Amino acid sequence: MLEMKYIYQAGKPEGKKFILLHGTGGDETSLIDLARLLDAKSTILALRGQVKEDGMHRFFRRNGLNQFDLVSLENETDHLLEEITRISEEKGIALADWILVGYSNGANIAAHLLLERQTSLAQGIFFHPMSLGVHTKVFDLSDKKVWVSYGGMRDQIVSEAAFDTLTEAFDKRGADLTIMETNSGHQLLMEEVQSAKAWLKE
Ligand code: MLT
Repeated sequence: MLEMKYIYQAGKPEGKKFILLHGTGGDETSLIDLARLLDAKSTILALRGQVKEDGMHRFFRRNGLNQFDLVSLENETDHLLEEITRISEEKGIALADWILVGYSNGANIAAHLLLERQTSLAQGIFFHPMSLGVHTKVFDLSDKKVWVSYGGMRDQIVSEAAFDTLTEAFDKRGADLTIMETNSGHQLLMEEVQSAKAWLKE
């Protein structure tokens, strides 16, 4: 498979280390300002989803809204992990030091990666994620710390059931889970960024 496009920016040694995964139609630049708001001193690895849907970048294929292509999902999850591992080795950063930060489609593949692949990646901030309906693993997640947000009933993409299925999967396997619910629909609010930032400082 092709190497993924990415931006890497080294921050200060004491800063957080963020892996940024954009939503549908975004790219590797989309979450950089958000990362700086979360931590101005952060190191960032921002990846571009290599699947294209009508010209929009995504991290795995779908055949319509929430009709996920599960073969693409598994292949792209493996590929994303390979790329993260390769770049982390190159930069001398341990997988356990990263915090996955994703919005929507990027949050979905990141959450899937934590739930379905055994890795030392251990932390995630997931804005408006959902269950993709694939929960095949039961390994313990008590070394994982995850913050997730949900836009409430006005979210046209994430149903309450799909959000709950995701959070239950983390919760019942022992992850340290923090949930924020808003009433904003699928769009990302500054108050979510502030809340995730406070969580990072806990
Ligand atoms: C997905 O396809 O991952 C979700 O529908 C969210 C999105 O469209 O980005």
